[in-house]
Amino acid sequence: MICPNITVNEKNHLCFAGRDTTQLAEKYSTPLYLYDEQLIRQKCRMYKKAMAEYMGAGSRPVYAGKAACFKHMYEIMGQEDMCVDLVSSGEIYTAMKAGFPMERAFFHGNNKTDGDIAYAIDCGVGHFVVDSFDELYALDAIAKEKGVVQKVLLRVTPGIDPHTYEAVNTGKVDSKFGVAIETGQAAEFCKAALELSNISLQGWHCHVGSQVFDEDHSVYHDTAEIMLSFMKEMNEKHGLSLNVLNIGGGYGVRYVNSDPAIDIPQNIKTLGDFIKEYCEKLAMPAPIILMEPGRSIVADAGMTLYTVGTIKKIPGYKNYVSIDGGMTDNPRYALYGSKYTVFNASRVESEDKLRCDLVGRCCESDDVIQPDVSLTAPGRGDVVAVCTTGAYNYSMSSNYNRVGRPAVLMLTETGEHIAVRRETLEDILSCDM
Ligand code: LLP
Repeated sequence: MICPNITVNEKNHLCFAGRDTTQLAEKYSTPLYLYDEQLIRQKCRMYKKAMAEYMGAGSRPVYAGKAACFKHMYEIMGQEDMCVDLVSSGEIYTAMKAGFPMERAFFHGNNKTDGDIAYAIDCGVGHFVVDSFDELYALDAIAKEKGVVQKVLLRVTPGIDPHTYEAVNTGKVDSKFGVAIETGQAAEFCKAALELSNISLQGWHCHVGSQVFDEDHSVYHDTAEIMLSFMKEMNEKHGLSLNVLNIGGGYGVRYVNSDPAIDIPQNIKTLGDFIKEYCEKLAMPAPIILMEPGRSIVADAGMTLYTVGTIKKIPGYKNYVSIDGGMTDNPRYALYGSKYTVFNASRVESEDKLRCDLVGRCCESDDVIQPDVSLTAPGRGDVVAVCTTGAYNYSMSSNYNRVGRPAVLMLTETGEHIAVRRETLEDILSCDM
């Protein structure tokens, strides 16, 4: 199976986190997002343990909330003593409402508005990850008005191409994010930050991309080399001792069997050893390392259930199996051509298979969840499961065609609870005047 928490029971039904998914579909209706809460907690603990052990005291993971953002997720992150990365006033508000301790939050974004900046300061966000000169000056001015000295990391671009898909490739010099080291602008960025009275520079941030497998370790090692050399240069030039380096998120996850399975603690060890050695070579103390995993914490802890509706067979052409959700709850195939593993959860194993495109209900031909899949004898009313949907599905969902968003159901060791209820027709109208 694509993930160890997916099994098949004696009724030939698909089980997720030990639950029969067809029963969950019947009880809670579909489409339905499922989360294995225990797996999310295990991943947080795995990152925390490995980073503390292999990257030195103070090193820790920062959960990238954009991957899956709703109140209960921040409750989990609060309980697991995680830091979080937030990118909008909406994400900050959600974390606040969950009672997340805001001093453990890092506020990101390439275009924080003055309103966002003021709101984040008022909420007591621990660190801003400042993305541009414009933001730096705006933040200093707003912090001054509020009588606050704001802690910041500066986001710089190391000029690394992580060879992932273009939409999530962010570390290159010509990126909209961060300030480039190569052009000399990052050094100016540092100087500018040090001259501002309401900015307290704590360290550096970079993020090269998402869904990075980095099997030969070159991406993160090259990134670390560039960042550590830059840190040393800035420390020497300005007589500083800044010792925080946030190297962003990005470990890839397995969506289909042909994707590699990454041993994250082992990768963290290899990277931690590399950083220590490289720092010795540079004769500098190894910094505190922060990493910002999103996908690798929540993706395979998630699954989406749908009900099969129309089945259309076009002899000599292809077959379509339509489900009751689509690009509104999972736009990732439409946007990136992302791969997914899918099952007929009502009948997992059988010789009788149908080759088909699994498509959504929206008025758009690109509304495809996954093309050319093999489903075991699908029939109207069957439950279809799409695996590994825990990251960037709920958080990227929309109301296109005025389709309501599905509920989010958390499966825990002892029970289950709805973290986000299903949107009703009234919800769809709730902002219309
Ligand atoms: N830190 C920063 C600054 C980021 O921009 C991101 C992701 C992360 C951390 C978390 O990366 P992760 O560990 O999740 O790979 N919607 C796209 C993914 C966009 C990623 C944006 N930034 C998708 O569905 O594939």
